[in-house]
Amino acid sequence: MQRDEFQTKLAETVAAVERELEDLLAFKPQAAEIHRPKRLIAAMRYSTLGGGKRLRAFLVIETARALGRSDGGPVRAGAAIECVHAYSLIHDDLPAMDDDDLRRGKPTAHRAFDEATAILAGDALQALAFEILADPRTDPSAEIRAALSLELARAAGLAGMVGGQMLDLQAETADAPRPREEIARLQAMKTGALLRFSVEAGARLAGADPRASDALAAYGRAVGTAFQVADDLLDAEGDTATLGKRAGKDAGRHKATLVAALGIDGARQELSRLVAEANAAVDAAG
Ligand code: IPE
Ligand code: IPE
Ligand code: MG
Ligand code: MG
Ligand code: MG
Repeated sequence: MQRDEFQTKLAETVAAVERELEDLLAFKPQAAEIHRPKRLIAAMRYSTLGGGKRLRAFLVIETARALGRSDGGPVRAGAAIECVHAYSLIHDDLPAMDDDDLRRGKPTAHRAFDEATAILAGDALQALAFEILADPRTDPSAEIRAALSLELARAAGLAGMVGGQMLDLQAETADAPRPREEIARLQAMKTGALLRFSVEAGARLAGADPRASDALAAYGRAVGTAFQVADDLLDAEGDTATLGKRAGKDAGRHKATLVAALGIDGARQELSRLVAEANAAVDAAG
C-alpha cells in the first residue's frame, strides 16, 4: 500500500469508526436501558470521540477487507477495540499510574472531569466493548461472537494489557534496570496484546483460513511490539505539541523501555527489525 492510499484508507476508517462510536455513545438511553448518567456519558465521549489515530480499528477493518469482508461488522469490532483502548488510556493517565495531564491535545479525563468519573468512564467503556462484540449486529454467528469476546478478554486482562500495566508500574521502582527480555514481555502485554487482537479479530470476522490466520498473528505480534518501541522513541525525541501528550516523561519516571535499555540507536535498530518482521509476515499471509 502506497503512502497516499494508506492515508486515504486511514481517513475512511477514522470517519467510519467515529460515526459508529457517536451512535454507541449517544446521550439517549438505548433499548433495554433505564438511564444514561449525563456526566458519565460525557466523560466517555470526551475520551473516545474526536481524537486518536484509530490504528487498532484500522487493523481490524483493513485485515477483514483484505480477506474479503467489508460490511459494518468489522467497523463495530474496531469501535469495540477503540473503547478498550480509550479506557486503557484514561486509567493509564490517572495520578495513581502515569499521572499525566495531557492526552490527544486535551486535558486528561480526570483533569477535565474528576478521578472518580474518569475511573467509571474507563470501567463503562470496557463493559461497552464486550457488549458490542456480543451483539448480533457485529456478526450473525454466535460462535464467532463468543470467540471474539474470549480473545478480547485475554488481550485486555490479567495476561494482556492490564497485566502489562502492572509490570510497567512495578518496573518503575525496581532496584536495577530491567533486562531486555523482561521489557519485551511487558510491552508485548501492555500494548502488543490489543494490537495483535485487532489483526486477529479482522481475520476471524472474515473467516480467514488457518495458514493466513497464523501469518497474520505473527504480523500482529510484530506490529504490536514495534508500536510500543516507536511510542517510547517518540517520548524521548518528540515534542509535546506534536504528540498531544507530554513528551520526555518516561526517563523521569524510570520507565522500563527499550530506549532506556539500548539507547536511542539501539531502540531504532530494534524498531527496524520488527518492521521487517511484520512485512515478512504480511507477505507470508499472501
Ligand atoms: C498510545 O496509543 C498508548 C500506547 C499503547 C503506546 P496510541 O498512540 O495508539 O494512541 P491514540 O489512540 O493515537 O491516541
Ligand atoms: C500505555 O503505555 C499502554 C497502555 C496500555 C495504555 P504508555 O504509558 O507509554 O502510553 P502513553 O505514552 O501514556 O500514551
Ligand atoms: Mg503507562
Ligand atoms: Mg502513559
Ligand atoms: Mg508512552
